[in-house]
Amino acid sequence: MRIDGHTKLAFLLGYPVSHSASPAMHRAAFSATGVNAAYLPWALTPAHLSAAVAGLRSMENLLGANVTVPHKGAIVPLLDALTPEAEAIGAVNTVIPRSGRLIGDNTDGAGFLLALHEELDCRPEGLTVAVLGAGGAARAVAMALAQAGADRLVLANRTATRAEELAAHLRRHHPHCEVAVQTLHPSWRVSQVPEIRLLVNTTSVGLHPGDPPLFDYDSLPVQALVSDLIYRPAETPLLRAARRRGCSAANGLGMLVHQGALAFERWTGKPAPVQAMRDAVER
Ligand code: ATR
Repeated sequence: MRIDGHTKLAFLLGYPVSHSASPAMHRAAFSATGVNAAYLPWALTPAHLSAAVAGLRSMENLLGANVTVPHKGAIVPLLDALTPEAEAIGAVNTVIPRSGRLIGDNTDGAGFLLALHEELDCRPEGLTVAVLGAGGAARAVAMALAQAGADRLVLANRTATRAEELAAHLRRHHPHCEVAVQTLHPSWRVSQVPEIRLLVNTTSVGLHPGDPPLFDYDSLPVQALVSDLIYRPAETPLLRAARRRGCSAANGLGMLVHQGALAFERWTGKPAPVQAMRDAVER
């Protein structure tokens, strides 16, 4: 990569950022498309977020920014406008500079849907889906599923009150979608979700080798598609059990790649080199 007087800058705002695959993925995208830009991780604590956004505003050669934990919600009031997706989720993962203004977008939900279609040949329209978890990732996924026409969402979370809040938000935005809440604990069974077609894990359980199972994975019926947003490790115990039972299953790599590809397209106006981005992340 050559940096010269014409190089544009893109940033990842987060804390921590050292584990992120996004710099390698976007470097590969710039290189494959000949875009003269650099993508830099910017580790900053919440106390410095507003100064960082002011810094972005000062940069005439800003290409854009990604936003990750813990800043996705906190950055909202610091921006000039939100896309309808970011507005509905209440969180931003992509900042786009437009005519001197900073626009907050969210490509997580759309990235999730693209990966679901590509890897599991799944379109959510008319389906019953179980979403495990009720944090920021669950919100993006559940909103995208409802937007895409899912019939019924069951939100299963360890802390039921958190799932109730997300359910109320979903019902307000997508009254056509039936939303139910269940408490997720080790004795939870997939049979509590009749006619389930897709199960999505948005919790952090499975990230660490010793994590006890979220529920009895042997209760997965063979017709259920299983999506785990975790991509490192590439195969969580949930995914391993799902495949052992004959279910089609996919990890979170596709969502990571597609949310990044959509951000690249918003920043550059060019089609993203999705395969080059995927290869970079897999490496
Ligand atoms: P993110 O923004 O990545 O979704 P988060 O907002 O911290 O992260 O949410 C983490 C999710 O993982 C939550 O749904 C959390 O459940 P609680 O709401 O009950 O905290 C879930 N989670 C984390 N550790 C868990 C565990 N050991 N068992 C079950 N769920 C867990």
